[in-house]
Amino acid sequence: MMKNLNAELYSNELLEVWSKKSHLLLSEKMLFKKYLVNTSKNVLDVGTGGGRLAFYVENLGFDSIRAFDIVPGMIDYAIERGKTLNSKVKFEVGDATELLQYSSESFDYALYMQQVLNFIPTESGFKNALKESYRILKPGGIVFFSFLDYDSRRFNPLLNTFVNLIRRVRNETLLRHRLPWLKINGKFNWKLFNKNQACAYWVKEKEIIDQLKTLGYDILEVKNQSDFKASKPTQKKGMLYIVCSK
Ligand SMILES: C[S@@+](CC[C@H](N)C(=O)[O-])C[C@H]1O[C@@H](n2cnc3c(N)ncnc32)[C@H](O)[C@@H]1O
Repeated sequence: MMKNLNAELYSNELLEVWSKKSHLLLSEKMLFKKYLVNTSKNVLDVGTGGGRLAFYVENLGFDSIRAFDIVPGMIDYAIERGKTLNSKVKFEVGDATELLQYSSESFDYALYMQQVLNFIPTESGFKNALKESYRILKPGGIVFFSFLDYDSRRFNPLLNTFVNLIRRVRNETLLRHRLPWLKINGKFNWKLFNKNQACAYWVKEKEIIDQLKTLGYDILEVKNQSDFKASKPTQKKGMLYIVCSK
């Protein structure tokens, strides 16, 4: 089985930073305010990290929340933090590509935020995870996705060209729009062009919307991070948010 290098990154270099995060971005708060309206319904937080969003949602008044992450260290931290907060969130270890622990049509809301799905290392895993998101959602349920948006970073085409050229020379399989991490914990990744790099999958907006529609989702909202700013920059920047209903 292929090694999941992103899961390794989150288990090591990125564990401390991501398990301890607690603040929400304005974009996340605004989307939750608009769509997470019925606190009697249940919520699944996918790739929860240290439980940042799960605890926030609990504070909004939701009392049926489940949350999972592929990295056991993240879940250990979330469970400990939950104890200090007297939280009822149920945390567990799991992989977004195969949600065997959840029955079909069992959640009213699902959160796939902070680009969780972009860290899945294979195309088939990514597709399965999208399918699973649809399967576990109740009819009428709402799902929040945020994706790494290929067109939001000017240097992506350049990086893509270099990386894929090197891959071709090395005779490695080409993975379209799957780019190595430019920075890790805010520091430049000097091993960028090494073999066997952890890579994130940067989606193209039209392609991902088509994929979601093909699964059966209705698209409720598509926004870029920059759309939430008072003065919009000319070029779209940051994450791509897509809210869908089933
Ligand atoms: C950028 S962090 C976001 C954490 C959290 N969603 C938040 O918004 O604070 C991405 C998280 O996704 C988790 N992750 C990556 N691949 C995953 C997978 N296949 N299944 C579940 N979690 C995964 C990582 O371990 C990490 O905790």
